[in-house]
Amino acid sequence: MTHTALPMVVPAPGLPHRVRIHEVGPRDGLQNEQSTVPTEVKAEFIHRLAAAGLTTIEATSFVHPKWVPQLADAERLFPLLDDIEDVALPVLVPNDRGLDRALALGARQIAVFGSATEAFARRNLNRTVAESLAMFEPVVARAKAERVRVRGYLSMCFGDPWEGAVPVPQVVRVAKALLDLGCDELSLGDTIGVATPGHVRALLTELGDQGVPTDAIAVHFHDTYGQALANTLAALEHGVSTVDASAGGLGGCPYAQSATGNLATEDLVWMLHGLGIETGVDLRQLTATSAWLADQLGRPSPSRTVRALTGAPETTTT
Ligand code: HMG
Ligand code: MG
Repeated sequence: MTHTALPMVVPAPGLPHRVRIHEVGPRDGLQNEQSTVPTEVKAEFIHRLAAAGLTTIEATSFVHPKWVPQLADAERLFPLLDDIEDVALPVLVPNDRGLDRALALGARQIAVFGSATEAFARRNLNRTVAESLAMFEPVVARAKAERVRVRGYLSMCFGDPWEGAVPVPQVVRVAKALLDLGCDELSLGDTIGVATPGHVRALLTELGDQGVPTDAIAVHFHDTYGQALANTLAALEHGVSTVDASAGGLGGCPYAQSATGNLATEDLVWMLHGLGIETGVDLRQLTATSAWLADQLGRPSPSRTVRALTGAPETTTT
């Protein structure tokens, strides 16, 4: 079978001309690996992603090492990225202790991560929603005083494995609270991948009606039910132009077992380039990077596009 290396470009009206991809593979992807990936492999992964043209690469987390042992090497990893130029390397920071660690290493972008539901706030942060917002408040204030850019993640925006459906007004309330703390950007997380496009439109519309500017919004879809690309297109049609994705489709959340991989960056780039939307990403180089990482992890990439472009076999669940 022959493979077309690039999609045919057929633009569609009403979409952004350029999309900024917020690459989360090294953080959301690797936090969920069963084995701990060697620090040098992580550093090479991030260098390769930068060389493939990604300009925002979430590098690691400064969380409690016992909560996420896969990223416990943040202090060793971050200095290995010093030579990467013109690429933002945000890191996850839940609290003051995490911010101390990140600032000590010179991090210039951080992300706090809240939850729209009480059940996930408790499991992920050992706090209620209100307690987590109180935990973030001094973090965001101190980061802003240091001119560090702050992203606010909001998880479980479309459904929660313990609470079920999550009402749109509940999501909007916590979203606004995160922005009120001073977050520069809000990333709407479909942590368990249950969203569908009408739901995405409804949430974005309500956020807009409540005064949240669309250019402050990013979308973060996991692909559990194969809806991530459709949901992304719905968000693009609404004017969103920052999209989170994970090279090779790695990902999940250790504190939400029903979460699977993120939207694969390659699948996203295939669609965006087919629509004539600029990303700055070299799809061939990115695919080679994910194929290389899959070799390191000892299993094929779950990304359809990576498999199509490399002829790799279907993934199996073990
Ligand atoms: P806790 O047990 O409540 O912590 O955990 P604590 O505040 O009670 O502190 C206990 C001890 O931990 C203290 O040490 C602290 O210093 C230490 P002691 O005084 O007892 O010796 N400690 C730390 N050490 C290092 N770094 C730190 C830190 N913080 C406290 N940052 C905590 C609370 C927030 C720390 C914990 O719940 C935690 O680390 N959670 C992180 C969970 C996580 O990383 N989840 C995955 C990321 S979220 C995600 O994937 C979703 C997303 O992708 C979007 C989506 O898909 O929806 C973003
Ligand atoms: Mg995630």
